Amino acid sequence: MLELSHIYYKIKDKDTEKTILEDISCVFDSDCVTAITGHNGSGKSTLTKIIMGILKPTSGKIYFNGRDITDMSIDERARLGLTYAFQLPITFRGITIKELIDIASNENNSIPKACEYLSKVGICAKDYIYREYDKTLSGGEQKRIELALAIAKKGDCVIFDEPEAGIDLWSFERLNNLFEKGKCYIVVSHQSRLLERADKILLLTNGRVADYGDSSKVMRNMTNMTCARVKED
Ligand SMILES: Nc1ncnc2c1ncn2[C@@H]1O[C@H](COP(=O)(O)OP(=O)(O)OP(=O)(O)O)[C@@H](O)[C@H]1O
Ligand SMILES: [Mg+2]
Repeated sequence: MLELSHIYYKIKDKDTEKTILEDISCVFDSDCVTAITGHNGSGKSTLTKIIMGILKPTSGKIYFNGRDITDMSIDERARLGLTYAFQLPITFRGITIKELIDIASNENNSIPKACEYLSKVGICAKDYIYREYDKTLSGGEQKRIELALAIAKKGDCVIFDEPEAGIDLWSFERLNNLFEKGKCYIVVSHQSRLLERADKILLLTNGRVADYGDSSKVMRNMTNMTCARVKED
């Protein structure tokens, strides 16, 4: 279980202070898929980077399985079982996809085993396993390999930032393969199908929690919010 308690994130923008996240408190349960949604710039990626330790909150606490991880590094969090898949994958020259899968899973995988991870994200493994993870891969291919690496890491708490971004509809069906029973998943998404698949939704607006709860309830409220805005216009 992952818990956020009163998380604030402020930055210096020229001479003024800008609040990106304001008083975010939330519990992400094990065996639960929680989607984080909200408009562009509402703070979703910032929040997930704070959970993973890529950014440090200005104030507030983060607990993972009851342990205070607020001051822990990314590596320490990864060792505890936190895994992160970036919105925009980071590629490397000079390293093959097979080697990256071995690093991610911390074992020397057989070729069939390494291919299994790629098949899960809809990639024809034999065409890719010896390729370098570089910019010659298409955007959708990079994204799918990033997801395969996140699966290979076997964390207890897995964070996906817009896993569907750049992935075609056929592959989208396979996104369900990302979720295993018993784990805590935090998935940033704008896609209604992914939001419907989630057990819970955290809705952010301007860096604040606008709604949180069972996905059907939050989806209903979101529809009402849109209707209200359309009426006002
Ligand atoms: N270092 C920074 N300097 C200035 N503004 C920043 C900085 N970091 C984040 N922001 C701003 O904080 C806000 C939240 O950014 P974030 O990337 O978390 O949004 P998001 O909800 O993930 O958006 P999207 O749906 O477009 O991915 C944005 O307005 C962004 O411009
Ligand atoms: Mg984002």
